[in-house]
Amino acid sequence: MAVIRSVIRGVGAHLPKRVVTNDDLSKIVDTTDEWIVERSGIRSRHIAGDDELTSDLGIAAARQALVRAGIDPVDIDLVICATATPDKTFPATAVRIQHGLGITKGAAFDVQAVCSGFIYAMTVADNFLKSGQFVRALVIGAETFSRILDWSDRSTCVLFGDGAGAVVLEAQPQHGNRDDRGILSTTIRSDGRFEDLLYVDGGPGSTKTVGHLRMNGREVFRHAVQKISGVIEETLVATGYAADEIDLYVPHQANARILDGIAKKLGVSPDKIMMTLSRHGNTSAASIPLALAAAVDEHKVKEGKLVLMEAMGGGFTWGAVLARW
Ligand code: UT7
Repeated sequence: MAVIRSVIRGVGAHLPKRVVTNDDLSKIVDTTDEWIVERSGIRSRHIAGDDELTSDLGIAAARQALVRAGIDPVDIDLVICATATPDKTFPATAVRIQHGLGITKGAAFDVQAVCSGFIYAMTVADNFLKSGQFVRALVIGAETFSRILDWSDRSTCVLFGDGAGAVVLEAQPQHGNRDDRGILSTTIRSDGRFEDLLYVDGGPGSTKTVGHLRMNGREVFRHAVQKISGVIEETLVATGYAADEIDLYVPHQANARILDGIAKKLGVSPDKIMMTLSRHGNTSAASIPLALAAAVDEHKVKEGKLVLMEAMGGGFTWGAVLARW
């Protein structure tokens, strides 16, 4: 039976120019390169300049994705931006990106699911394309987490970075079986009982300030391994694939030890897990599309390959998307 699937046509990425190393951070907080590498796997991250906004990073990533897809911006009818660090409380960063690209038709809005934002945004876009309401979507993950870090808190400020990634999705008729190209499965979950473990201590409706990120790293780590493994297993059961049939896992990049732990739990070789963490840090909603773009550049994904993306973040929120390239 013919069905509509959301096929990934192109991927783009953009990182601010300024690179901050672990040694640079050791000059502002009591930390060492050794501690950061051993506990997280991060060696450096990109940090946006004062004049670089989340929407600027998103526009640059989207432009590259459109060029690589061979699609004109005016043919995009849906723009979704996953971000927890919007330029302004409103309008939505997605609308600013839409405007920056010269698109005046269709719809644009933000999705807020913190580090799971890209998985949520892909899920929303996929459902719109499958329903026939839109035909070509730009899904962007863009963040300037440096703006919400407490630069005196060594337990968090060493972990995050700024950047943006984008994909172009297009509704295409497929056969309706698991060999189809495009998004084959999406799963999103949330549970607000864990808010105190990872949150920002401000906001327009509570403190009238932006606030700073606060995290109980050890507890978040424990939940991340559990919840991410769970959602991967759900995805594999739903689609009938074995863990080693997936060509590439493209996880949210929070901690190398989490990714190693998941590889071990699934029994898959670590070279099937895309890792960009060492040079990007945790870029929240941008981390998966940034890693996807790196995977394309390194020829790790090409047409026909099965790619499983997954994330967990503040909320808690978590989820997974399985797609055939
Ligand atoms: O993207 C959203 C999801 N986020 C995550 O998945 C993050 C999950 N958590 C983690 O990645 C890890 O828990 C961290 C990397 C944040 C921390 O690693 P850890 O092995 O859990 O360390 P810890 O928090 O238990 O801290 C161990 C020690 C503490 O000292 P004491 O209490 O043992 O004396 C910390 O004060 O390390 C200390 N510490 C540091 N030392 C040097 C914390 N931050 C630093 C630092 N440099 N930057």
